[in-house]
Amino acid sequence: MKLYRIKKSKIDKNGLYASCDIKKGTRIIEYKGKIITVKQSETSSKFDNGKAIYLFNINKRFDLDGDFKFNTARLINHSCDPNCEVTGTGLKVWVHAIKDIKKGDEFSYDYGFSFDEDYENYPCRCKSKNCCGYIVREGSRWRIKKKKKKI
Ligand SMILES: C[S@@+](CC[C@H](N)C(=O)[O-])C[C@H]1O[C@@H](n2cnc3c(N)ncnc32)[C@H](O)[C@@H]1O
Ligand SMILES: [Zn+2]
Repeated sequence: MKLYRIKKSKIDKNGLYASCDIKKGTRIIEYKGKIITVKQSETSSKFDNGKAIYLFNINKRFDLDGDFKFNTARLINHSCDPNCEVTGTGLKVWVHAIKDIKKGDEFSYDYGFSFDEDYENYPCRCKSKNCCGYIVREGSRWRIKKKKKKI
């Protein structure tokens, strides 16, 4: 049984939603794509933006390019209070629940974008209580708060 369905999202265009209640730790959907070498991703212009949304590092040698229509998991939006995480097992990459998720909730994960000079080009619309206003990885959000305080 599919644990997800595609629906219009308030965050951005389409998103992926829970089709039933899901327990923390459940594997929801495989993040499918093409396995490429780290060397290929480092030298390809497709990934020359540090914010390659669809690129996941699997290990020292391989990355996964998920920028394909058949990869339904690519529809998952970012949130500053995510309910999912994307992790690798062997050469496979899975989206799994990091919280109990209710039927009808939108899946989200932290896109892990770095805080750099162009972070303001990526406003966040996740509307979570702790939203920092931009798509920036959890560990770097304090930099935004610090910057706001200074102004
Ligand atoms: C991987 S796609 C997600 C699926 C997308 N909603 C769609 O229907 O194709 C990533 C893009 O979705 C948008 N997005 C995802 N999460 C967002 C968020 N929290 N706030 C604003 N835009 C977001 C951004 O434009 C981002 O480049
Ligand atoms: Zn947010």
